[in-house]
Order: sequence, then structure tokens, then C-alpha cells
Amino acid sequence: MPKVTIDGRTFDAPAGRTIIDIAAQNGIEIPHFCWHPKLTPAGNCRMCLVEVEKMPKLAIACMTTVADGMVVQTASEKVLNARHAVMEFLLINHPLDCPICDEAGECKLQDYAYKYSIGESRFEEDKVHKPKRVELGPNVLLDVERCIMCSRCVRFSDEIAHQPVLTFTQRGTHVVLTTFPDTQLDNRYSMNVIELCPVGALTSRDFRFKARVWEMSSTDSVCTGCARGCNTNVWVRNNEILRLTPRHNEEVNSYWMCDDGRLKTFKHVNAAERLSAPLVRKEGQLMETGWDEAIAKAVSELRLFRKNEIAALGSGFSSNEDNYLLQKFFRETVGTRLVDLVEHVVEGDQDDLLIRADKTPNTTGAREVGVRPGPAGEDLASILQGVRDGSIKALYVLEDDIAADPAVREVLGNLELLIVHAHQRNATTEFADIVFAASTFAERNGTFVNFQRHVQRFRPAVATQEQDRALDGFNMSRWDKFAAHNDRWGRGSRRDARPSWRILAALAVVYGVKYRYQTAEDVFREITERVPTFKGMSYLAVGSRGRTLAAAGTTAPAPVA
Ligand code: SF4
Ligand code: FES
Repeated sequence: MPKVTIDGRTFDAPAGRTIIDIAAQNGIEIPHFCWHPKLTPAGNCRMCLVEVEKMPKLAIACMTTVADGMVVQTASEKVLNARHAVMEFLLINHPLDCPICDEAGECKLQDYAYKYSIGESRFEEDKVHKPKRVELGPNVLLDVERCIMCSRCVRFSDEIAHQPVLTFTQRGTHVVLTTFPDTQLDNRYSMNVIELCPVGALTSRDFRFKARVWEMSSTDSVCTGCARGCNTNVWVRNNEILRLTPRHNEEVNSYWMCDDGRLKTFKHVNAAERLSAPLVRKEGQLMETGWDEAIAKAVSELRLFRKNEIAALGSGFSSNEDNYLLQKFFRETVGTRLVDLVEHVVEGDQDDLLIRADKTPNTTGAREVGVRPGPAGEDLASILQGVRDGSIKALYVLEDDIAADPAVREVLGNLELLIVHAHQRNATTEFADIVFAASTFAERNGTFVNFQRHVQRFRPAVATQEQDRALDGFNMSRWDKFAAHNDRWGRGSRRDARPSWRILAALAVVYGVKYRYQTAEDVFREITERVPTFKGMSYLAVGSRGRTLAAAGTTAPAPVA
């Protein structure tokens, strides 16, 4: 294999690879603006200039392919002088409005200005002024003055989103980024250009001017918008989620996420209407009550029915830990065989990049941990039929607004007892007798399994009263304590919403069965012991990149019912 020496270190360099590629792969950072590992190289910013032995001039590392025996210097005097010059050129007409720029604190231009520029400008003329607020599309705004013409956004729209609507017009310092006539940047992945832009030229209409980057905490999480489970960062200030951004994971979502996932999957966490206590129906009205009272009432009401009159529905929106305990509690403790879930597949709403037709983050996981039809084929259809004909009288539903489906809604009125876990009042809670206030993906620990059977972790980014208690006594990881601790000082309210697995464990205790789980990790540990495909996994092993389940089709142990 050809060898290349970069800054005195020699590496294998497969033919056809570029210097920046080999350097990046081996932990050597060559500064760059226009290069991105997932886009075709453009070679237009000149920030990546390096010195190559026997070449008469400096070469751009992003477009120079390696050759056997090549010797490269990335920080020689000549290279540093060239970088200073590039930075000086880029900053000539840049507005330097970092104090009001959303990108400040995570801006490549700002970072490189500190690192690679001489810190002063010889330019004394008036800067060229350009439009500061151009609506490129429904979700993205452009500040033309800040643009450094790297063309990353142009190439992303063309090569990844397959909507080639961006281009440059004019010449020299008057160049402007724009959309072609009668087009706009309006595709399902349009907001990825915001992170791709190495400066603050492209900003999110949703997040614009809401917070400075350094005021927020960032927590690794997973998008709940569909079965892809794109890896995300949840950005929180004052216990309120302000934005989601994609987190790189080559096996799942590369560097991207879709606009729906980014905009529609977190606002319910902040909603003022969130439940902060259990609700129990009294004289026809759902009234707030204490947790102990709600749990005792749920158990005493469930006990009024025979085993085969009770059914439980898990949820593709709930974690593996929640679904596992649901099926364990209802099969082993309550004794029913009637456990299944409602699937949320939108036929045809799927593409080749990320978006999946299954609009839940965890139907695969819920099925894997045992939420599936019973041994005699007791499935959702037979449960709904049982509710319709009156043979099933009590239904327990985990975090799923099942009444949003008119076919399900139609039968719910037949029930004598409906208990649901919910984040806020919804169509299903209208029929409920008891509603448990469940915490969301952003307020607890847990795991999802995506459609590729990749197990992924999410962590608490927003504090609830549950977490405050957990911090005082339960065995949370140092990282989780840190994340929750960060938000303890925020002004946002602490809701008394609890993870579904903990609510189910409390029910089991009142039923007379000791569930000794202190944390979600304890439940996950039991899953790894009882579900063969999870064998050998742990929260530590799943880490922030996830881990793929063992062979598809391996089934969980038969239910005890
Ligand atoms: Fe590059 Fe940003 Fe300008 Fe697009 S808007 S060309 S990503 S600097
Ligand atoms: Fe090489 Fe821009 S990164 S020219």
C-alpha cells in the first residue's frame, strides 16, 4: 500500500484518497471551510493549503490525492503565512457581527480567526454590504454578508437533498448566494445546511436569536420522529429544549436529520399543558391527584376484573425498559395474555436517505422485548374486537394516543376501565379513568431499537422532580448527574412526570410483587438476561453510538401467563 508522511508521521494511504482525508483519519486536523467528508470537494476556500515536498507551490489538501512517498507539512512557516492570508481575505468583507450572530461559539470562522489569523486587518475601506435577512425557504434564513462562498450548502442541496435550488450570482466581492428564480430551499432535509455552513450565514427560523450557544447544555439523544432514530443533541436552557441538532453516527444517520424530526419532536416536552401529576376521574372529570392514591386506585380497579378481561397495549413511542416491564407486569403479575401495540406506519412516506414509514422510534424494540401477540394469536385486532364485544373490559395503554385513530376511538367508550400513560391530555385521555403523567424521552434514561435493529440510548436533558429525587439517592451515572445537575439551576418548572417503567414497578409493588429496579439501567440489565438478542449489552456498551442486536428473529422467552 502507498505510504504518505504527514508532519513526520507515516501512514498507509490507499490510492485515490486526498491528503485531508488521510490526515483526518489519523487525527491530524487541517483547517478547512469548504471540504466536508460527505460532499464532493470544491477546493474554493483555500484554507487547507499544505506544503508538499517537491511541489513548487502550496497544494490544497482537500483536492490533492496522495501518492506513494509523498511528504506533507501542515504547519510549516509557508503554510501558516498562507493561512493568515486566506483568513485576512475572508474577513475583509465579513461583517464581524459575532455579538449578534447565532453561530458565535460554534463558528469555524470565529475559531479559525482566533487560531490562524494575525488578529488585525489592513483593510481600511468600506466593506461591501449585502442583504442581512433573506428567506431562502420556510425554515432557513440567509445573511448574505456573512457567507464566505464555500458552497457547502449548494452541494448539499444538490447531492444529498437532491433539490438543486441554490447557486451563486455576481462576481468577485459582490458574489451572493441565492435560489434559482421561482424556487426556494424547501425540502425535507433543508435545515442540515445550517450546521454545514461554517459561518453564521444560514440560520434556523425556529431557533434564531433564542439563545447563545454557551448558555445551553447539550445532551446526546435520539430523534423520536421515525424508526431511523437519528442521533441528536438536545440543547436546553432553563430546563426548556430550544433546539435539536444532528449528531454524527455513520451507521444510522451520517451527519443529517430531517426537518420534521428537528422541529416537531421536542415542542411537546416544553408544552405548558404537560401533565405534572396523575389524573383520576371523579364525577366525570379528570382531577389531579397524588401518585400513591393514583397507583392504589389503578391496582384496586384492575383487581375487579378477571385476567382475560384485561388487555395492555405497549407503545412504539416508549422505551425498551417501559415496554419490557409492561409485558412482564401484565403477563406475569396480572396474568393476561392480551398484550400488543398499535403500529404507526404511514405507507409511502419513506425515502432513501433517512425518513422511514414507521413513525415510531421503538416499535422494533417493543416487539423484541415481548410486546407482541400472545401464543394463541391474541393481537391488537382481537383486543379491539374484545373491547367491541364487551369481553375485554379493562385496557391499559402506554404513552400512545390510540384514540387518534377513529377505528380505535370508536370502541374505547365500551370499556369499564381505561388507564393510560400520557405526557399531556389527548384524545385517549378523554376516555381514561386514570392517567399517569409520564416523562418524555428528554427527561429520562432509556433505549430504543431502530429499524436496523440498532440499540441506542437516550438520556435526561430536562429535569423533572423524579430526577431531582434520583440525584439525591438513586444510582445515576456521573454523566447523567452532570446533565441533570446543569439544568437544576434553570428557571423552568420541574414537572412531577415519571418514567413509565417506574410507574409500572410501583403498580407491581402494590400488587404484592417486589420489583427491585432503582434505575432504568436495572431494567435494561434484566432485559439483557432474559431476551437473548440483548445478551452481552449494557448501557456502557451501547454508549453514544449504539450497538446492533444479535441475529434477527431471535425471540424472547415465552410469557409466563
Ligand atoms: Fe458556505 Fe454558508 Fe455561504 Fe453556503 S451560506 S456558501 S454554507 S458560507
Ligand atoms: Fe480545501 Fe476549502 S477545504 S479548498
